[in-house]
Amino acid sequence: MNEKDWDRVATTFEEEIFNVPENDTKGLITDAIRRLSAPGATATDLGCGVGRTLPLLAEHFAKVYAVDVSSQCLAVAAESCTQYDNITYVHADLSKDRNGYPATDVVLCINTLLNASIAVRGPLFDRTCRSVKRGGHLVLVVPALGSALLTTYRRLQWNLRDGMPPAEAQQEAAQNDAGIEHGIVHIDGVPTKHYMREELEASLAERGFRVEAIEKLEYGWDTEFEAPPRWMKEPWPWDWFVTAQRVR
Ligand SMILES: C[S@@+](CC[C@H](N)C(=O)[O-])C[C@H]1O[C@@H](n2cnc3c(N)ncnc32)[C@H](O)[C@@H]1O
Repeated sequence: MNEKDWDRVATTFEEEIFNVPENDTKGLITDAIRRLSAPGATATDLGCGVGRTLPLLAEHFAKVYAVDVSSQCLAVAAESCTQYDNITYVHADLSKDRNGYPATDVVLCINTLLNASIAVRGPLFDRTCRSVKRGGHLVLVVPALGSALLTTYRRLQWNLRDGMPPAEAQQEAAQNDAGIEHGIVHIDGVPTKHYMREELEASLAERGFRVEAIEKLEYGWDTEFEAPPRWMKEPWPWDWFVTAQRVR
């Protein structure tokens, strides 16, 4: 999705864009932000969207930069955060523009590094990493490739239980061919980058980060299927939740 696409969903964001913080039932995001906050410290919400996590950051950090490619999303975010006077809104396409804000102690980046095009995603990932001060932390949420494949398996399992012949069950369940070998899977028709744990370790190390933790941020099956059957329990679908420190 590009700037115009994100602008278009600004007013319907809550219905259309999956709410990661709301579905973070273990509170991984809140715990990490609390743990990394310190008096006088600064934070960036990179790809802040309509500002779901801005109150959390504004309450724990002295200064917050809310960065997004969509001016419409930024307008909705600013409207919903009028009670905070420590947030600066920055309109920037981080796949192209130089960062128009200083590096901060903490950068929170939830489902922003999704673009299927490496020409867009590569520079965006680089600038996200450069937005963290040396010694500071990146708190990252990205889609998991294993979760997308598990969802396909669950669909196959469901089809088989419903009595579908195996070959047909497998074909019906198959992810459409968007470039799975590079982690690209269609989500609601949009080709979306998904990550492996090892890929995150390697790409963060390459960008000067020491990974502290990579955990599963788990969701219910109702986030993947309409009315999932009651037998469908753990293992649950997940996003990767990463905390990493910039060491160089
Ligand atoms: C899936 S939404 C997530 C929004 C928010 N982090 C949340 O959890 O609700 C992705 C956000 O990243 C922003 N984004 C995508 N590409 C970007 C880019 N190149 N530069 C800056 N922001 C970008 C989009 O405008 C959108 O608001």
